[in-house]
Amino acid sequence: MAISGKTCVYAVIGDPIEHSLSPAMQNAAFNALNLDSIYTAFKVKPVDVAKALVGMRALGICGLNVTMPHKAAVMPHLDWIDEPAKFLNSVNTLYHKEGKLLGYSTDGIGALKALKENKVDPYGKKIVILGSGGAARAIAYTLIQEAEELVVLNRTVSEAKKIADTLEYKFNKKIITDSLSPEIVKEKISNADILLNTTSVGMKPNIQSLVAPNNLRADLAVMDIVYSPFETQLVKDAKAAEAKVVNGVEMLIYQGAASFEIWTGHEAPVRVMRKAVLEQLQGGSCIE
Ligand code: ATR
Repeated sequence: MAISGKTCVYAVIGDPIEHSLSPAMQNAAFNALNLDSIYTAFKVKPVDVAKALVGMRALGICGLNVTMPHKAAVMPHLDWIDEPAKFLNSVNTLYHKEGKLLGYSTDGIGALKALKENKVDPYGKKIVILGSGGAARAIAYTLIQEAEELVVLNRTVSEAKKIADTLEYKFNKKIITDSLSPEIVKEKISNADILLNTTSVGMKPNIQSLVAPNNLRADLAVMDIVYSPFETQLVKDAKAAEAKVVNGVEMLIYQGAASFEIWTGHEAPVRVMRKAVLEQLQGGSCIE
């Protein structure tokens, strides 16, 4: 599609932003549907977030993805924010609609779709989440609405408790919290259907796993949100145990697909988006 005066401009803002996979993924999607839109990346310093959003309004930028460290900082500058984003205090998608800036969080729905589209249905299941950062909060927010039992384990247990306290109050459901000691991990996994790693453990250069290989089994589904390396140690061990595995790129793809659908109203071409992401990772020799 040739760029013209009518082309809609989208971008991701963050700092750093140079290694973002979103431009490749979203441009592939726009091209596949022949939409007159382009997607780029802007490095925005924390001190410039408010100015960037004034610029978005002034320039008529159609939509933005928002990544670290701006997911909370953009919020005071928006006209409307969806329920999950408000609750999570985190916006990752901005849609400029009829002069208004609308904010959404697609992280939780991205994780849920990543599971479901890979034939892991969390409904009525026992789920263990490792970690209690921003990604864990978004995932827990979505999965507590599906799960029969949710366990959140974190190195800093007080952070896990914070997630539990707020979600238990909102959804009136109990969440079990505990530490990440090998004994606790083993015990909680032995009783679970689905295990999700949301910690940065496994990400280069910290490429170990929080889970002993012999804790994994064929009837446990395992999702890791880390995708660099492409196959983390946890993913490798889960495959060796013949567990069903959802790779880290899947959440990235489905949160991006959800943004695309908000902006365009079209179903996202997920296969095209996945191909673009994998090509980028291969090009950057991140696949091992
Ligand atoms: P994100 O927004 O991507 O979720 P984050 O907010 O920095 O990232 O959260 C990182 C998570 O990884 C946290 O749960 C962190 O545990 P703490 O709350 O104890 O810091 C977890 N994490 C990072 N390094 C870890 C390590 N070496 N061992 C165990 N957990 C680790």
